[in-house]
Amino acid sequence: MGNLFFAANIAPENRTSPITMSKKKTQYICQSCGHAHPKWQGRCDGCGEWNTLVEEIIETPKNRFASTVSAVPVSLSKADKTAVERIPTGFGEFDRVLGGGIVPGSVVLLSGEPGIGKSTMLLQVAIRLANAGKKILFVTGEESVGQIKLRADRLGPSGGEDSIFLLAETCSEAAVAEAGDYDAIVVDSIQAMASADLQGAAGNVSQVRQSAAIFIELAKRSHIPVFLVGHVTKSGAIAGPKVLEHAVDVVLTLEGDSQSELRLLRSTKNRFGATGEIGVFSMGENGFSEVENPSAAFLGHHDAPVPGSTVFAGIEGNRPLFVEIQALASPAAYGTPQRVAQGLDPRRLIMLAAILERRGGLPLSRQDLFINVVGGVNLTERSADLAVVLSIVGSFRDKPISDDIAVFGEIGLTGELRRAPRTPPRVKEAARLGFSKVIIPEAGEKLPKIKDLEIIRAKDIFSAFKTAFRD
Ligand SMILES: Nc1ncnc2c1ncn2[C@@H]1O[C@H](COP(=O)(O)OP(=O)(O)OP(=O)(O)O)[C@@H](O)[C@H]1O
Ligand SMILES: [Mg+2]
Repeated sequence: MGNLFFAANIAPENRTSPITMSKKKTQYICQSCGHAHPKWQGRCDGCGEWNTLVEEIIETPKNRFASTVSAVPVSLSKADKTAVERIPTGFGEFDRVLGGGIVPGSVVLLSGEPGIGKSTMLLQVAIRLANAGKKILFVTGEESVGQIKLRADRLGPSGGEDSIFLLAETCSEAAVAEAGDYDAIVVDSIQAMASADLQGAAGNVSQVRQSAAIFIELAKRSHIPVFLVGHVTKSGAIAGPKVLEHAVDVVLTLEGDSQSELRLLRSTKNRFGATGEIGVFSMGENGFSEVENPSAAFLGHHDAPVPGSTVFAGIEGNRPLFVEIQALASPAAYGTPQRVAQGLDPRRLIMLAAILERRGGLPLSRQDLFINVVGGVNLTERSADLAVVLSIVGSFRDKPISDDIAVFGEIGLTGELRRAPRTPPRVKEAARLGFSKVIIPEAGEKLPKIKDLEIIRAKDIFSAFKTAFRD
């Protein structure tokens, strides 16, 4: 059975044939974990996944020396740091996420789900750079030159049109050959590019890596900043940007709910600035615009308080970000209750449900639980715990929490509220946004009194419930 499965699933390019056995030495890389194998095989030795190996060239050391031989050692005191002087794009939120602008010679990967707005964002960045007198090469492997022109027209007149050059090209070497006298290069997308040195189809892990290596070399050699667009797919059928994350300098992710116009740009890796920094944009017919009051942008608006909704006073990067967390507890239709979390680690939800059941005495084992972080934000902070449990309890009891309350706090296994990082900016922001109460963990630094804001310290989930539900 297993063997039959193998034979039918070996892709033609993976079968050993006289063509693939040509002069260039190759190895087989797992698309899932990157483990290298000398021969094709059905199962990866590294991660145990089936059918994930793809052929990749082994670079000979000779080539490597040839390309780096011009570099000479420089003492740290004499090292020239002009190369890390940033070029502002003029797009404030974008510059903020990058850490103050583009670093010459840096490679920035912008990833996000299909249709989230990656091409639009980079075209807008290109337009702004062009307006500042830069010459930009926009390599498009996915869309035609005409499609980009249509998008640019939708974004409105910019004045920099003569400085943006569109190149419909899918060969990485050809694109790099064109790149000589430009100030920045956009490659949309890295999955559409293929190196002439490899035989696999564009988008497979070896092509993605090879093409990225070609653009990275260009950036480092000629100090031209390069922006790469990277797709993420849930199935993993196409090589995701995961394999690139080590190679590039900056990884930006664009997230948000495709049904709403709000988008969050987040840096998950940055060799030249803080990670976790966020930028908030609104996507409209004329492209992205910066949001004026970003900390409140993702808050929902209800006419009256609703059961199962709590405002979490979060912080992303250096910026407070208040989001609404919604929960729905509903009797389970099947034996095993479901735990579905959007924008939150599902394992965290399972843990919080167990704490509520064991410590809080809430019979959740026969309830399906659904959690949604409104606006498509992905929360990474554990301080969101308190908002999650208050929403669950609110939904289970069908009892709303007053909408002038914001909360934060991590919950421990005994139901205690643990000290949260960076309490003062959260509390200050709550006051600024007009909340009249914040429920926060008891442990933590002393806070100054703030006018019109009641700061309520809770030791554990029980005292938090009492305050929130007034019971
Ligand atoms: N006329 C329009 N008015 C408003 N929004 C539009 C209009 N046309 C397109 N959009 C928005 O632009 C989005 C597509 O943006 P874009 O092509 O930049 O996304 P992408 O991330 O590059 O997608 P892909 O993964 O397909 O390359 C659409 O999902 C839509 O929301
Ligand atoms: Mg696109």
